[in-house]
Amino acid sequence: MPSAFDVLARDHEEVKRMLTELELGPTAASGANADQRALRKKMVQRLVIEESKHEAVEEMYFWPMVRQHLINGDALADTALGQEQEGKEVLAKLDKLDAGTPEFEKLLANFIRAGREHIDYEESHVWPPLRRTLTQEQANELGGKLEAGKKTAPTRPHPHVPASPGALKSTGPAAAATDKARDAMTNRGTDRR
Ligand SMILES: [Fe+2]
Ligand SMILES: [Fe+2]
Repeated sequence: MPSAFDVLARDHEEVKRMLTELELGPTAASGANADQRALRKKMVQRLVIEESKHEAVEEMYFWPMVRQHLINGDALADTALGQEQEGKEVLAKLDKLDAGTPEFEKLLANFIRAGREHIDYEESHVWPPLRRTLTQEQANELGGKLEAGKKTAPTRPHPHVPASPGALKSTGPAAAATDKARDAMTNRGTDRR
């Protein structure tokens, strides 16, 4: 079973790769044609799906461990959850916009900056003390939960669902099932147009 830090690091690398790709463009303002704008929209949809699943399993399993095991765990988790909430609000708006609009690019630039900051916050402020505190067995058990949780996690941001593990456990599966049904109907998150 992979350690929680391996599971989360893999997600972070994937998200950072997507952010860099999006940052490179082309954008509508730098002359993207209709096909390139459609591709940009698809890339953002994939980003929204990846981020939604990642933050959902962190909320469900990772932050409760941080709160339980670190002396300043509540403060660390509260700061990170505030960042995640802001991220969800931006992604929920982005998910509804076309890639040709200035508003889309403004929100995306905002997310690229805030998304990198959030990843950096987790990796440099939260992971080191938690790595020192958890046993290998605990880190692996958490890794297993994160991986399994991603399979049934929501694929949309749901900024209005409170970010508590209890709320997610009760509304998460229903929201995730609705998300997946909508994804299938619209080919969201696939390369099909
Ligand atoms: Fe996070
Ligand atoms: Fe994360």
